[in-house]
Amino acid sequence: MKANIGINEKNSLAVATILNKLLADEHVLYVKLRNYHWNIEGSNFMEMHKFYETQYGAIGEEIDEVAERIRKIGHYAEGRMKDFLKLTNLNEGNYTNDQRKQLQSLLYDHETIIREIRKNIPVVEDKYKDIGSSDFLTGLMKEHEKWAWMIRSYLG
Ligand SMILES: [Fe+2]
Repeated sequence: MKANIGINEKNSLAVATILNKLLADEHVLYVKLRNYHWNIEGSNFMEMHKFYETQYGAIGEEIDEVAERIRKIGHYAEGRMKDFLKLTNLNEGNYTNDQRKQLQSLLYDHETIIREIRKNIPVVEDKYKDIGSSDFLTGLMKEHEKWAWMIRSYLG
C-alpha cells in the first residue's frame, strides 16, 4: 500500500536511496566495530574492548532507525550484505589489532558519514520536501559527531 504522506513518489524514492546508502555505511561501520572489539590488543585492552562495544550497540540501534525511516516514507530497506557492500561509501579495510590504526579508520568512517549526511540534509529538505527525514538525519549526524569527537580525543 502506497504511503500518502504528502511527498511525491519520485521524491520519496530519492530520499530512500540516500537512506539506503547510509544504511549500508552504518552496517560496514557496525561490523568493523565488532571486528575491533574482538581483536584489539594492548595495555588498555579492556577500555577499548568496552568502548567499541558501547559504540556498536549505539550504531546497531541507529541501523534499525534508518531502515524503519525508509519504511515510513513508503519504500523498502536493503537487507543483504552484498547490497550493503555494493552501496557503501566506506572501506572494510585490512585486519589490524593496533589501537591507533583502528581508531584512525573509525574516525575516517564517522567523518565520511558526517560529511555525507551534512551534504544531504538540505537536499532532502529543500529539493525532496521531506522534513521528517531531514530532521532524522540531523539527529543521526549529531550522534556521529559525538563518536568522532570521542575517537579524536584518543588520537590527541
Ligand atoms: Fe563481546
